[in-house]
Amino acid sequence: MCGIVGYIGHREAYPIIIKGLQRLEYRGYDSAGIALYDGESIKLSKTKGKVADLKEKLENEISTSGTLGIGHTRWATHGVPNDVNSHPHYSNSGDLVIIHNGIIENYDSLKKELINRGYTFKSDTDTEVLINLIEDVKKNENLKLGKAVQIALNQVVGAYAIAVFDKNKPNEIVVAKLGSPLAIGIGEDEYFIASDASPFIEFTKNAIYLEDEQMAILRRGKDIKIRKIKTDALVDPYMQELQLNLEQIEKGGYDHFMLKEIYEQPSAILDTFRGRLLSNEAVIKLAGVEDNMKKFLAADRIIVVACGTSWHAGLVAEYIFEDLARIPVEVEYASEFRYRNPVITEKDIVIAISQSGETADTLAAIKLAKSKGAFVFGVCNVVGSSIARESDAGAYTHAGPEIGVASTKAFTTQITVLTLMALRLARAKGTMSSSEFRHHLIELETIPGKVEEALQSDAYVKTVADIYKDSKNCLYLGRGFNFPVALEGALKLKEISYIHAEGYPAAEMKHGPIALIDEQMPIIVIATKKGHYEKVVSNIQEIKSRKGRIIGIVTKGDVSVKELADHVIEVPETIECLTPLLTTIPLQLLSYHIAVMLNKNVDQPRNLAKSVTVE
Ligand code: M6R
Repeated sequence: MCGIVGYIGHREAYPIIIKGLQRLEYRGYDSAGIALYDGESIKLSKTKGKVADLKEKLENEISTSGTLGIGHTRWATHGVPNDVNSHPHYSNSGDLVIIHNGIIENYDSLKKELINRGYTFKSDTDTEVLINLIEDVKKNENLKLGKAVQIALNQVVGAYAIAVFDKNKPNEIVVAKLGSPLAIGIGEDEYFIASDASPFIEFTKNAIYLEDEQMAILRRGKDIKIRKIKTDALVDPYMQELQLNLEQIEKGGYDHFMLKEIYEQPSAILDTFRGRLLSNEAVIKLAGVEDNMKKFLAADRIIVVACGTSWHAGLVAEYIFEDLARIPVEVEYASEFRYRNPVITEKDIVIAISQSGETADTLAAIKLAKSKGAFVFGVCNVVGSSIARESDAGAYTHAGPEIGVASTKAFTTQITVLTLMALRLARAKGTMSSSEFRHHLIELETIPGKVEEALQSDAYVKTVADIYKDSKNCLYLGRGFNFPVALEGALKLKEISYIHAEGYPAAEMKHGPIALIDEQMPIIVIATKKGHYEKVVSNIQEIKSRKGRIIGIVTKGDVSVKELADHVIEVPETIECLTPLLTTIPLQLLSYHIAVMLNKNVDQPRNLAKSVTVE
């Protein structure tokens, strides 16, 4: 986690860095800091709190002029969030300054060695250890900064995206990457550095994404030099043209990114299947699947690895793949899978699902699966992300940037890609007739319009939110394809409103959670027609007999649930396997409105960060 930004060139660095940090705040927001070189010395300011707090403090504290600078927004790992532990960090001499995203795992032993050599430390961070290690190497061997960074990094175990500069050589910034993302924007006689391209999108469309174990020296007025950290070999820079635009990363009139992203779902889902779903020709085109069809058809099973919301999308995929394509699927928390010594063979296909493509546990899980010979297929949103690059093949979700920490459009677009995959494989395996297949394609094509319709319940959902906003606990129930939606609904509520919520398969309720039900307990039950409708209605009756307060998510025109529930929120009708794409919408809106009514920070909930790049 953490966001890093840097600039060297001919413009004032401060406005670029502060705005860039605001855009990267989704990565961590417990403290922030900036170091600027003003032509004579380094001006450094940092504080616990948000980038807005830094801005206020800094503009009263230091001069903000200078054309070289680095900045950081933190999600604490080593050391509590406070001013001292915030980045940037100085080396002991005060000559070098660093920002860092990642974790130096062997920092403790390195720190002890440095203390033995007379170094002192102000903070509890692993980063301060790294900058002093760099200084030590530089001083002892009388090296240039780039070489010292390289030698120091070869002694380090862990993950990093770093930017370092030396006040005595204010014409260069040295950057390096392993495990954490680092993008370099290339302008005219200027370089931008950031954890993703959003901080420099209005200045340049040309970017280089550093690969793991690469470092670069960015010199004013000179071409970029990229080297491999281990071997010192020079690497040809691979420049990409960014597709991102400014509108995509701004709120566009919405109060919060989360609400904007909820409302973007019709177009995001459309973008996900655009050019891939050709219903007139009854064809699904997914290059990653097509090119590896033999592997998919020969696979014994599919193992999904993911975390959080992406794990929930994986659970929906389990139902869809097994139902449509008759392929056994196991869905694993990446964090458990990677340490469990799992049985994996060359006949397994591992699907890694990740919005950011940077989640450390998911990345480690696919590395493990690859080392055991499995074929890895990535379903990511962020183009060029680590998981996308590490996978053998994949399909992007094309959801566009998701900035709200609570995933919304990432979930529905992941389900869309996974549904396309399941349908394509079902056709190839012959587990679906051509008319069924065509029917599914036509129905999938109607989903963006139906999501639009589901969004029209927003005002009513808000009135429901007002009634239940003060609840202390909440239960979410669903069955079949909608059991994972119940889990996702509960996750959304807890992460942004801090109300305790649990998701359960509806029938499992009587094996324990039913004991929680009383007049105070709101229970959100997904009870769409088809599937297990009658069974869910019986579950609702059981809740009613125990005086629970029922909010039903029902198919338009439903009568039975309406008679039992305190409130019903309607979604349009669709085929069973596609219902998660619709039932999710009112649950997202409900969580959103409750969190806003409780005055919580919807886009940046406490203790969380958008991409979890630490394990
Ligand atoms: O980027 P990823 O999809 O790999 O992220 C996985 C989880 O960290 C993420 O889904 C998290 O659970 C969200 N905050 C949920 O809203």
